[in-house]
Amino acid sequence: MNLEKSDQLFSEAQKYIPGGVNSPVRAFKDIGINPPFIARAEGSRVYDEDGNEYIDFVSSWGPMILGHNHPKIKEALQSQLELGTSYGAPTDLEVKMAGLITEIVPSVEMIRMVNSGTEATMSSLRLAKAYTKREKVIKFAGNYHGHHVIENTTVANYNDIEDIERVFQKSGEQIAAVIIEPIAGNMGVVPARQDFLEKLREITQKYSALLIFDEVMTGFRVALGGAQSIYNIKPDLTCFGKIIGGGLPVGAYGGKREIMEMLAPLGPVYQAGTLSGNPLAMTAGLTALKFLKENPDIYTNLEQKAKRLQSGLDANINRVGSMMSIFFSDEPVFDYESAKKCSTKLYAKYCKSMLKKGIYLPPSQFEAFFISYAHTDEDIELFLQKNRESYEKK
Ligand SMILES: Cc1ncc(COP(=O)(O)O)c(C=O)c1O
Repeated sequence: MNLEKSDQLFSEAQKYIPGGVNSPVRAFKDIGINPPFIARAEGSRVYDEDGNEYIDFVSSWGPMILGHNHPKIKEALQSQLELGTSYGAPTDLEVKMAGLITEIVPSVEMIRMVNSGTEATMSSLRLAKAYTKREKVIKFAGNYHGHHVIENTTVANYNDIEDIERVFQKSGEQIAAVIIEPIAGNMGVVPARQDFLEKLREITQKYSALLIFDEVMTGFRVALGGAQSIYNIKPDLTCFGKIIGGGLPVGAYGGKREIMEMLAPLGPVYQAGTLSGNPLAMTAGLTALKFLKENPDIYTNLEQKAKRLQSGLDANINRVGSMMSIFFSDEPVFDYESAKKCSTKLYAKYCKSMLKKGIYLPPSQFEAFFISYAHTDEDIELFLQKNRESYEKK
């Protein structure tokens, strides 16, 4: 595989961009090679600057559930381009987007659009602190909520009921919120256990703390209604990102009306954004969400392809719908400690080998793979074939 042009670009990039990238995992540091620089993408494929073609299982880290450059999104964006790219004023698109999300996700009665998942979780935590007039936040080891610093945080063990009971017994009255990825995707894919999430709902209610579901990755991915529809649990606030932007930069947070009404201009919690609700982003996101809602068979299709991939791999896999991870460990992975037992060395070797064969996987053991609607059965078979070859070479 020739990566000459990508290598040149990476050297150039490192002169002006820290580490040569605008988001760390893209540097491929964990697998010890330089990253391919991507020139274009279409359907299930990405193409690098040297003309190499890859079947993409990174999916821009989740947003591209319909595949790259989906004709409906492209068409909608082209029409919107004729109308201008940003107004800094309210639009019909935002009303439609809020209407659609609140219809699909019943726990969300009101919603505020922002520009990234990070902004969504950061703002939801500020809101939770203001609403409860408390300062402490509980998060879980191995969960990721963006790059902001969460102040006054206690880190609890994921899927560990005793630990969360201990934390609440100690300081329950000071806890503003518990934030959780209901299906974690940032230590590899690790679903929460049903009884664990039910306990969280119960204990937060008992202590009048808010339960925040970070569905930036799982929202509209694991099911149209997100992880909360699978577990049948209503959080007080939910954070979104990725899919709701249809491939453009978007985040959002929403939940109970009474809580959301604390936000300015209605209430005292000031939160604003120059480009929030941007018409291009709203157009792409709205088109994606409408398409998903109108074609529920998409989720059946994703499940079938992902199941086929899982059963053909014969590996230690965690999977929920079209989100999955191969763990290079012989033991079940159910929390951060068990995830850390995986061999990052073996993963790096595997990932490099697959990349050379045209299968583009996340360059980190602790990131999820995503199946998109654009992946064909043949793409899945190709993955399995290249996987066999990668193992044979070991
Ligand atoms: C669960 C979760 N929350 C928050 C974020 C942060 O989102 P963003 O990268 O858009 O800031 C991510 C990003 O991967 C995520 O997976």
